[in-house]
Amino acid sequence: MMEQDIERVLFSEEQIRHRVAELAAEINRDYAGKEPMPLSVLRGSFIFMADLTRGIDLRCTVDFLSVSSYGKGTTSTGQVQITKDLSEDVSGRDIIVVEDILDSGNTLSYLMQLLQARNPSSIRLCTLLDKPSRRVKPVTADYMGFSIPDYFVVGYGLDYAEKYRNLPYIGVLKPSVYE
Ligand code: IMP
Ligand code: MG
Repeated sequence: MMEQDIERVLFSEEQIRHRVAELAAEINRDYAGKEPMPLSVLRGSFIFMADLTRGIDLRCTVDFLSVSSYGKGTTSTGQVQITKDLSEDVSGRDIIVVEDILDSGNTLSYLMQLLQARNPSSIRLCTLLDKPSRRVKPVTADYMGFSIPDYFVVGYGLDYAEKYRNLPYIGVLKPSVYE
C-alpha cells in the first residue's frame, strides 16, 4: 500500500545494513577506550539510531531530543525549536549527534551550537544521509552514510507528513504525493 507512493528504491535494506555497520566500525575505532554518547534527533533518526548503536561495541549512554519539524511541507523554514530536551547532562561527555538527513543545515547548525554551549568534551555529527546541494548553513558531518541529490526521500525513519517512517528501505517519494 505504501509502496504505491514510492517512485523508486534509492537504498535497499541490505545496502543500508552494510553502510550502517561501516559507520559503527568507524565509531568503534575512533572512540576506542572512550564512552561515546550518541544523541538521537527525533523522530527521523530513531531507526538509524537503533541499528547504529547496536553496532557500537563500546560502553555508551544514549539519549534523545526532539526539534521542531517541517510540518507538512518538504522544505525547512529556518525556524528551529527544541520540543523535547535531553534527559542527561552532556558536560564532559563525548557526544555524537545522530541525524537522519542533513539538508539545508538549519536544524543542525542551531542544534550543534546549542549542544556545544553545554560543554561536552567533544561533539561530532553522524548523519545517515546528506544533501550537500541544498546547504544554506556551513555544517559538515563527521560520519555520513550516503550523499544524495536533491530528492525528497522517505523510509528508514524519514517521513513525509509523519508517514512512511516504517518503510524498511529508503525511497524517493512520488512528487504527486506532495504536489
Ligand atoms: P534542515 O534543517 O533543512 O537541514 O533539515 C533537516 C531535517 O529536514 C531532517 O532532520 C529531516 O527531518 C527533514 N528533511 C530534509 N530532507 C528530507 C527528505 O528528503 N525527506 C524527509 N525529511 C527530510
Ligand atoms: Mg529530522
